[in-house]
Amino acid sequence: MNELQRQILDLKERMDAIILGHNYQRKEVQDVSDFLGDSYGLSVQASKTNAKIIVFCGVDFMAESAKILNPEKTVLHPNPKARCPMAAMVDVKSLKELKAEHPGAPVVSYVNTTADVKAESDICCTSANAVKIVQSLPDKKIIFVPDTNLGLYVQRFVKDKELVLWPGYCPTHVNISKENLLELKRQHPQAEILVHPECTPDVIDIADHAFSTEGIIRHVTSSAKKEFIIGTEENMIYRLRREAPDKIYYAVPNATCPNMREITLEDVLDSLTKMQHKIELPPEIIRRAKLPLERMIAAGRQS
Ligand code: 13P
Ligand code: SF4
Repeated sequence: MNELQRQILDLKERMDAIILGHNYQRKEVQDVSDFLGDSYGLSVQASKTNAKIIVFCGVDFMAESAKILNPEKTVLHPNPKARCPMAAMVDVKSLKELKAEHPGAPVVSYVNTTADVKAESDICCTSANAVKIVQSLPDKKIIFVPDTNLGLYVQRFVKDKELVLWPGYCPTHVNISKENLLELKRQHPQAEILVHPECTPDVIDIADHAFSTEGIIRHVTSSAKKEFIIGTEENMIYRLRREAPDKIYYAVPNATCPNMREITLEDVLDSLTKMQHKIELPPEIIRRAKLPLERMIAAGRQS
């Protein structure tokens, strides 16, 4: 633990703050987080914390979700440059047009969306429960935004439904290539290939499993296997080594999310000392976005 980390931990105690960190955060930020997890787990933690202040170390939509679930709390986002490009790929105007083209079709929005898009949605989902949520809806036709690849992944399990997809994607996960994964598999034939469902369909096809980031951790910790090829953001491997240090991990090349890495320890300390970068959202958006997020939490994880 370095001096900066000690200062953060001390300040956080004195200020009654909790630090929530996504599994893709820098190693040193993971080390000061009270709770690490995927988007689903972090939303659950945000909804049940008693702390007065939430310091959210993740991208913008995650911190916004924490605010929507806790309008009365202060939510600090240590570096506003940490923005998910996929969440910016669909806007309210386009979503309203899509809804008009498919009257009556409910909207499932991936949690990687802006607060105002959530406010226009019937229910949110994360990669930990997208299939379960789509399956739970009685409708045959469902609008699913913004991640085409997650939508195509869900469509594999819900053959009786028509998903209307939006051309959004994750620039990090579309960079993960089947060729690179197969090359790692050739070098380590015993290893299982685990990928995130934001990967492209050809990558999903050759993977042993596709899970949310926390799903990958749960799988690795309960598996009898020893070696894993990890097809998602590279910082996941730091978290995996913490949870299952006896296993061996192989990182796929080109899998970094620069947006998640924007948050540094200095930013975390500054946000606490200056109480800066508070998430502020219009009350009407909070009111309307809360229900789809609460429905997402109530649905639970995929079993
Ligand atoms: P998880 O919810 O699986 O952690 O994924 C979030 C994300 O942004 C993946 O790119
Ligand atoms: Fe957004 Fe992709 Fe980064 Fe996740 S990995 S935060 S989806 S850009």
